[in-house]
Amino acid sequence: MIRASVPTVTSAKFVKGVVGDDEALDDGKAHIALIGRSNVGKSSVINSLVKQKNLAKTSSFPGRTKEVNLFLINKSFYLVDLPGYGYAKTDEGGRDKLKKIIFWYLFNSHYRQKLVLLIIDAEIGLTANDKEILRGLEEHQKNILIVANKVDKIKNAVYLKKMREIQKMVGDHKVIPYSAEKKIGVTELTEELFKK
Ligand code: GTP
Ligand code: MG
Repeated sequence: MIRASVPTVTSAKFVKGVVGDDEALDDGKAHIALIGRSNVGKSSVINSLVKQKNLAKTSSFPGRTKEVNLFLINKSFYLVDLPGYGYAKTDEGGRDKLKKIIFWYLFNSHYRQKLVLLIIDAEIGLTANDKEILRGLEEHQKNILIVANKVDKIKNAVYLKKMREIQKMVGDHKVIPYSAEKKIGVTELTEELFKK
């Protein structure tokens, strides 16, 4: 049987990081944004999707991504890596600054996203901050997909229970179990990126 060709990432390039209006954000190419708590693995998910180790900068310390970072995929659309929210241990001034950037880009600017990937930690599930952001995304009528990252940390015995809990918390939104580290869910998420 001949399989219909599956979409793949053939090129990925870091374009720029911005903290305010910029012509690159307005060049007509679609945006797919990644949002989630600090350290949940947003930048790592980008690297797994483009099959590169360090295209997006990652760190074991929260607060690594500080700008709206644009990655041009297949010369046709942007993956938009955002700073994380909700990490209590960064200094308050720094945290507010990051929150401002996230809220500006997602909720207060004129930019539109074809899709918003809400990245959560599959082991931890939805935190209060995650729920607040999800509500905000719903209120702004974003096209939302939940990526439950770090499934590699979950023990087999509780995997299904965890996934059911997450699904219950997010209602009708589709959830993709994912591991940027172990490359679980990459094909499924890639297909979502290329949906019309
Ligand atoms: P900020 O930019 O600070 O908001 O963080 P981020 O969400 O971009 O997270 P980042 O990709 O920098 O990853 C944070 C940490 O989580 C790093 O130490 C990663 O190696 C680790 N990590 C990311 N994805 C996975 C995963 O699927 N499984 C496991 N076990 N660890 C992961
Ligand atoms: Mg990051």
